[in-house]
Amino acid sequence: MKVPFFRLRLGTPEKKAVSRVIESGWVTSGPTARALEEKIKKLVHARHAVAVSSATAGLHLSLKAAGIGAGDEVITSPYTMAATVEAILYTGATPVFADIDPLTLNIDPARVKSKITRKTKAVIPVDIGGLPCDYDALLKIARQRKVLLIEDAAHSLGAQFKSRPVGSLCDATVFSFYSTKNITTGEGGMVVTDDNLLASRVRLLSLHGMTSSGWKRYAGGGWKYDIVELGYKYNLSDLAAGLGLGQLTRFSQMQKKRQMLADRYMKNLSAVQQFIELPCVDRRSRHGWHLFIIKICPERLRITRDRYIRELEKNGVGCGVHFIPIYRFRYFQEHLKLKISDFPFTERAYLRVISLPFYPDLSIREVDYVSERIAELCRRFSR
Ligand SMILES: Cc1ncc(COP(=O)(O)O)c(C=O)c1O
Repeated sequence: MKVPFFRLRLGTPEKKAVSRVIESGWVTSGPTARALEEKIKKLVHARHAVAVSSATAGLHLSLKAAGIGAGDEVITSPYTMAATVEAILYTGATPVFADIDPLTLNIDPARVKSKITRKTKAVIPVDIGGLPCDYDALLKIARQRKVLLIEDAAHSLGAQFKSRPVGSLCDATVFSFYSTKNITTGEGGMVVTDDNLLASRVRLLSLHGMTSSGWKRYAGGGWKYDIVELGYKYNLSDLAAGLGLGQLTRFSQMQKKRQMLADRYMKNLSAVQQFIELPCVDRRSRHGWHLFIIKICPERLRITRDRYIRELEKNGVGCGVHFIPIYRFRYFQEHLKLKISDFPFTERAYLRVISLPFYPDLSIREVDYVSERIAELCRRFSR
């Protein structure tokens, strides 16, 4: 059997929604992008939503809109995708890294607290794999120290913390609609916030700093517009938004499937729990289940993580690693002067993690097959 790491299945709802956009005669940002914003706003209980071309763009715009730039510091996790850090660097601000909680793989609030200085303007927590960070602790620190919390929720659309949806917790929240995410627009993202000023600035900056969009002008709003700030070309097209609307019609069904697949992996792999640490679940949260990340236990296994992945791949099982820590990339090492030894928890996690095949199109048979291969490897390489 071959089980790819990722497989996307788009169906009739997506085809219909995209066809409607094509037939409408308007494919760049306009009414469909607005309709997607409305749906996401309702889904995550936020006052404003602004559709953007990616989560990377959304993070950049959120920081820019908050006036963050050169001379400021922004705290984030070294255990994230490059996008989080690149967005900080685009603004001219300095990223400062706080190590993770090794159980959840999320940023450790106590370490965030210890990194706050007079220059700190924001913290970007990242909900790894879809598990919300400890927002009780993070919100308390952010309010006490008067810094913004901008949530990197690239993985956590559909997740909740204490019955509140991700998107309603922080000063701003940024979702990704990249191809592998819980919903996709091909490429795309969404910034949500309750802050009127932040939302209007994100919108302005997402389209050249223009006072009127193309859609407004062509729809009869007149040809005149002004540029009031140096903006960006970060808007989401209606074509992409159409795909997102199609995906949203199946969202709750897809999330249920993700939960079911996670339960199945958990049940199957509980038999080899002495060799494999299963993903952390937090009683306070509803997991968004974007990724299913296991950690191998080196004290119990005579095999490295890299070889473990090679063995799974030999058996037709595709795997990923989320994430290669920021300090391991040459560019960041050289430019940010980062040392592996400053992040012992991230480093230890990195050497143990494996992301298993995990997506709504995965079948129970495939989950069982992957689980059996894992159990076999644990037996074969047990100490
Ligand atoms: C944690 C995290 N943040 C941000 C991003 C960037 O998302 P996008 O590809 O939509 O820019 C990703 C993408 O994989 C991610 O995993």
